[in-house]
Amino acid sequence: MERENVLPGVDDRIVWDLWGSAIHLPAVLAADALGIFEALETQPAGEAELAARLGLDGHGLAGLLPLLACLGFLTKRLGRFGLSEAGCRYLRRGQPFYWGDALGVMRELPMVRALCQALGDKAGPGQYQAAKGWGEGRLDEEAATAVARVMQSQSLGASLGLAATGRFQGVSRLLDVGGGSGCFAVALARRDPALRCTVMDLPAMCRVAAGYLEAAGLASRIDTLPLDMFRESWPEGYDAMLLSNILHDWDEATNRELAARAFQALPRGGRVFVHEILVDDDGVGPLAAAALSVLLYLAVRGRQYAAKEIASLLAAAGFVDVGVNAAHGYYSLVVARKP
Ligand SMILES: C[S@@+](CC[C@H](N)C(=O)[O-])C[C@H]1O[C@@H](n2cnc3c(N)ncnc32)[C@H](O)[C@@H]1O
Repeated sequence: MERENVLPGVDDRIVWDLWGSAIHLPAVLAADALGIFEALETQPAGEAELAARLGLDGHGLAGLLPLLACLGFLTKRLGRFGLSEAGCRYLRRGQPFYWGDALGVMRELPMVRALCQALGDKAGPGQYQAAKGWGEGRLDEEAATAVARVMQSQSLGASLGLAATGRFQGVSRLLDVGGGSGCFAVALARRDPALRCTVMDLPAMCRVAAGYLEAAGLASRIDTLPLDMFRESWPEGYDAMLLSNILHDWDEATNRELAARAFQALPRGGRVFVHEILVDDDGVGPLAAAALSVLLYLAVRGRQYAAKEIASLLAAAGFVDVGVNAAHGYYSLVVARKP
């Protein structure tokens, strides 16, 4: 049996690629059904312009169009998406080499329907049942157990990789915002015997996380704080905060609120660490981030962000010295300081 505190010799990009591949074909089929290829053939557009033209959700298109570009069917030039040569040849309806009738055999896939519905129904909730109450601060024990299992499974390797970067050196008290199963707090506390952490999350998740912390033998250095991060004040007394896979669950306006709350609770000199799989600054690749963006949009109406988007969000909240470093596999760590 492998030990859960030893970083595997191979990182997990291969599994992220597998996970992301599930949305490739549904994304193309949804774009075909919504007339996106025809619309971009006549006039390239940015996501907001295309959303207005077709009556679709611009936030959703901000995830979908980059994926279609990564797959090679769109191009992005000067901020506008247009059809690539392959898109022109194979995805325009009524054209001799149109592949839509063959690909369309898969049109009934639930993900295609869900994506078309989400893009058309701008205000509707995401598909991931366990996350439906997050915005209102609701999460029951069963859902918390399910989310914790998902997050532990996806994040354990990333947590060890993040701790191995050594970027948390000098932190003495860390608040892990939306800490889930607590694996990041565990990995960081194991790395630094002087570090004390708090996993802050909704009450049911804190009860589940407490079990993970107990099992890791770290309950004496890592506690939990049950709190709704949108409605209650964040605690003071921490010199750093970690937001891992948090911003990707929310839209830009909500993320501005989270950054402002982090800024308010940190002392001068305190640091915020944002751990995410980032989209490149051109807003298109890498393919794994683009695919994850669309999956997150379907699940919770979130998306992956580019470093420059996170940097400007942190700067708007008042943070300075924003820097970006590679972390485990596809992950990056954005760091900023409260002046
Ligand atoms: C995608 S998970 C990230 C978990 C962990 N940080 C990781 O990277 O593995 C999002 C977390 O945010 C928590 N969350 C969602 N809404 C919340 C709220 N209103 N207040 C506090 N935590 C919340 C969820 O319970 C969940 O643990």
